Amino acid sequence: MTIDIGQLRADTPGCELVRHFNNAGGSLPPRQVLDAVISHLQREALQGPVEAGNAAAAALDDTYVAAAEMLNCRPEEIAIAESGSRAWSVAFSHFAVGNGRLRAGDRILTSASEWAGNYIALLDTARATGATVDLIPTGPDGTPSIDALREMVGERVRLIALTHVAANGGMVNPAAEVGAIARSAGIPFLLDAAQSVGQMKVDVEAIGCDMLTAPGRKFLRAPRGTGLIYIRQSLLEKMRPVLLDNSSGTLGDDGRIVFARDARMLETNENARALRLGLGAAIRYALGLGLDAIETRITELAGHLRRQLAGIDGIVLRDQGLRQSGIVSFTIDDMPAVEVRDRLYARQINISVGGAAYTPIDMKARGLTEILRASVHVYNTEHEIDELCRVVSETAKRRGH
Ligand SMILES: Cc1ncc(COP(=O)(O)O)c(C=O)c1O
Repeated sequence: MTIDIGQLRADTPGCELVRHFNNAGGSLPPRQVLDAVISHLQREALQGPVEAGNAAAAALDDTYVAAAEMLNCRPEEIAIAESGSRAWSVAFSHFAVGNGRLRAGDRILTSASEWAGNYIALLDTARATGATVDLIPTGPDGTPSIDALREMVGERVRLIALTHVAANGGMVNPAAEVGAIARSAGIPFLLDAAQSVGQMKVDVEAIGCDMLTAPGRKFLRAPRGTGLIYIRQSLLEKMRPVLLDNSSGTLGDDGRIVFARDARMLETNENARALRLGLGAAIRYALGLGLDAIETRITELAGHLRRQLAGIDGIVLRDQGLRQSGIVSFTIDDMPAVEVRDRLYARQINISVGGAAYTPIDMKARGLTEILRASVHVYNTEHEIDELCRVVSETAKRRGH
């Protein structure tokens, strides 16, 4: 499937105003997403919020169906959350209280690109239970070593937690190789797909993960305040909700609590219907373009950007990994990242700064405190990239002044 770039940009109102390279922070939504959100808010105001929600029941259900289609799972294995971090912590904490209860001596394996919030939660739970969090050693290009992981798995390993695409650079971690090891050893595998969902095909069967989380607003182009959780049915059956809500279960006549057994038991019963409709519209839009086609274009654009940046004096590209995504990271010698970002912003070019607080293990290992992050999406053009690089080059010339 080839993408009609003219149509895609016409569908994206923000393309007229900004050159947006902060897709790893949050992407420009297509008007189909805006329409879904705004028209539902209007219906809530005019018909009544509950009544508008009831009338939208089929479309709301379709958000689960679309997410399941995108991730290759069942709609019952999908829950909707409010952000990437909330999705991850809901999945992890329900797992850790139920079937994944940790004991002293248990081990959790993770990698150097783990998102800070996840790593902190892993450490905190491990410390409270006497378990340990061990890092999978990385090879020279920063990729976690699959051979080392194979050696590390054993009886006491209770969870493997991996961030699919690092937040601070292009590296795509070898999720399917990790999944194959996790599966053959029978270890649950939790994948943080915050930066991969929406920019490439993410198939939970092909990867072999048991839990997956992602926010909606990044490469998926959904509204802020949305996120997705996937939990494999076999894990759901043994899970125990931590924070109970009306959607978590029912009270039987005999007074027994009957827990719901689909992923929606993890959700809040009350939620922003308009945002959920926007999330569904964003997933349908991405499926309409084709996730393979999206990935192909992002890879081409990111390649073009890396080549251009590599030719600019004073720029150091910081991407690692054998396989690289649409996130391009770099630094400019002797120039604070925020200054560069702000200079670009003044010219309607959006990029972002990644600090060590977000990816502490990797940044510390590489002696970095901050990086500049320019992340491309399908609607960017080579012309926009050339403009970005022209301003970066001008800015780099000012260093030392
Ligand atoms: C890899 C990764 N995980 C988790 C998150 C957190 O997502 P959210 O900001 O939606 O909580 C991010 C956000 O940048 C991320 O890049």
